[in-house]
This record gives sequence, C-alpha cells and structure tokens, in this order.
Amino acid sequence: MPAGTDEGGSPREGGDPASSAPALTEESIEAHVAQALEAIARAGDLDGLKEVRLAHAGDRSPLALANRAIGGLPGPEKAAAGKLVGQARGRVNQALGRRQQELEAERDERILVEEAMDLTVAPGRRPLGRRHVLTVTAERMADAMVGMGWEIAEGPQVEAEWFNFDALNFDKDHPARQMQDTFFVEPAKAGLVLRTHTSPVQARSLLERGVPLYVAVPGKTFRTDELDATHTPVFHQLEGLAIDEGLTMAHLKGTLDRLAEAMFGAGIVSRLRPAYFPFTEPSAEMDFRCFVCRGEPTATPCRTCGGTGWIEWGGCGMVHHNVLRACGVDPERYQGFAFGMGVERTAMFRHGIADMRELIEGDVRFNAQFGMEI
Ligand code: DAH
Repeated sequence: MPAGTDEGGSPREGGDPASSAPALTEESIEAHVAQALEAIARAGDLDGLKEVRLAHAGDRSPLALANRAIGGLPGPEKAAAGKLVGQARGRVNQALGRRQQELEAERDERILVEEAMDLTVAPGRRPLGRRHVLTVTAERMADAMVGMGWEIAEGPQVEAEWFNFDALNFDKDHPARQMQDTFFVEPAKAGLVLRTHTSPVQARSLLERGVPLYVAVPGKTFRTDELDATHTPVFHQLEGLAIDEGLTMAHLKGTLDRLAEAMFGAGIVSRLRPAYFPFTEPSAEMDFRCFVCRGEPTATPCRTCGGTGWIEWGGCGMVHHNVLRACGVDPERYQGFAFGMGVERTAMFRHGIADMRELIEGDVRFNAQFGMEI
C-alpha cells in the first residue's frame, strides 16, 4: 500500500486547515472545556443546545480534533494526553446531558401549560334551528283539513279590493268596510290592499277551481292594529270554504268539531253564536270548548277561559248567495259554508302563550321551547 498523504504529516485526514495541529496542552484543553461549559449554560432551548453540542462535542469540535491528534503523539505522551482529553470530553458531555434534561423539563412544563385543555369549557355546538311555532300551527290546522279530504289553496297578500271586499258582498258604502282597518296600497286608484283576511281566496278558488269545492287557506293577513299583547298588524288565518249540493250548517258544525279536536284534543267541540259578516248568511262566531276545564265547574274560575267554558276562535256561516253569484255559481243548486280563524290565537291557546308579541319578536329561545316538529 502506498503511503497516504496524511501519514506522518497533518494529524487530520482531509487536511482541514482549521484543525491542523491542535494544541494538546492542559491550558488549551481547559480553555475548550470552559468555552463549552459556558456555551452549554447559555443555551436557552433545545435547538440552541443542539448547536452547542455540534460545536463543542461534534466530530469537528476542538476536543474531538484534539482526541484525534493523540494518535500523532510520541508513544509515551499518549496516555497522559488521552486521559486529559478523555476527562475533558467527559465533563463536556455530562454538562450537555444535564442541560438537556433541564431544558426538556422546562419544555414539558411549558407544554403542559400551553397545551392544557380546559375540560369545563362549553363546546361550541351550533344550536339547531327550529320551524316557527306559527308555521307549525298553521300547517297542523291545514293538515287536519287535508285529513278530511280538503284541498289547500293560496292567494296573494297584496290583493285586489274587489276580491277582499266586493266579491264578498261588502257594498261600496257598506259600514263593514270600515269594520276592518285596511292597509290601502298606493296609488289608491289601483284598487289594491294588503288583504285584511284570507276570505278573498274564497272567490279566487271558486273562480279558478269551480264547484264542488272544499278548500282550506292558511295565510298571512294585515290590519292597521297597534302591536300589543293581543293584536299584531301582521297575523295569520286559516280559512275554510266548502261548496257543494246539499251542504247545511250541520256540516259546518261537524267540520269545526273535527278541527277543534285536531288542535285541542279528543272531545273538544265547537259552538256557534249568532253574528254578522257580509259574506255569510246566517253568520256565526264560533267558540271551542275550553280544553282545560271542559266547561266543568271548578273551585276557582278556570284561568284559560275565564270560567265561561268556551274560547272564541273565529267567524263562520253559510256562504251568502251574492258571493256565489259573484263567482258564477248558481245558489239554487249549490250551497256551502265558510269559516276563518286566527292562527296566532290557536297557537297561543295550544301552547299557553300569554303575549302575542313573543310570536313575532324572533327570540330563538322562545321558539326553541316548542321543539322540533317536521
Ligand atoms: N274573514 C273574517 C275575519 O277576518 C272571518 C270569517 C268570518 C271568515 C266568517 C269566514 C266566515 O269564512 O264565513 O274576521
């Protein structure tokens, strides 16, 4: 084997100039150790310590080079130099080990604090939305009618005065026109109103669908009422209209009883009291049996019905001949009945809601009470 270039020359392979002939004196080794210990003490985190380790205990560190240089010393000096460098490296490695432990302990402690999870924090769950109690009530009422074989009809909220009043036998100067506090839509000559009731859909359905006809109309209605516990300018009604041969008030009564049962429980019936509406003759106000006391005498007056045993629900009657005629229906052959009641009132009684304003204020906590009904 030919002699290598390093042999006998530089003690380092590769001829690294920085590492040529490291001094192997006690002072110089001690100086390296002192530098290393100082750097170790200064290392503020594990990454910093890694660099210090590389610089002071790595392959190219002064002490590693010194160690390698021992091989080039004359035989008798090797043992002492080996001991000197070996002890020096041992001290540095120990110091590195201790600092490593300290820094790891600091890191672990910091992680415990920084990454701690507060198991008592309420989870950020999104609350479920709910359908509004009025929507659900109106749908339940309409469903009860569909269950009796009726169809659902709808009409516009901005309605022709003719449908809202004229077709329903309200004379131009009929005082009943003032009975309802109407929102008139400008310009006045356009003859448009915000419908004051769902009854205009009676005429619309008769004209569109013809007879025989059984339609229920849930919908939004408007009157110039101030908002208070029992009034709101925007409210909802359920209208019913049945036109056929041979219909009588007994059919009206039976239909209302079924609807009352569907909304307030088995055995709840309706009653009729004489009243006046231009579009029905005879006309009646309908009440339903109080679903709390059921008309039975109680020790203190029932709080739901005020002790009367009945709760007012809406208006009804036999459809006026003039309405049938306005819609091209022969009153000699076809008769019918109609009714209309408030959805708000129905929901309030069904759920014990005391103040109508709660229905429209839109507080999700209010609506959430009624649960989810699809
Ligand atoms: N439209 C009436 C109102 O809003 C209620 C009503 C009464 C409707 C009698 C009817 C009816 O269909 O026959 O006050």
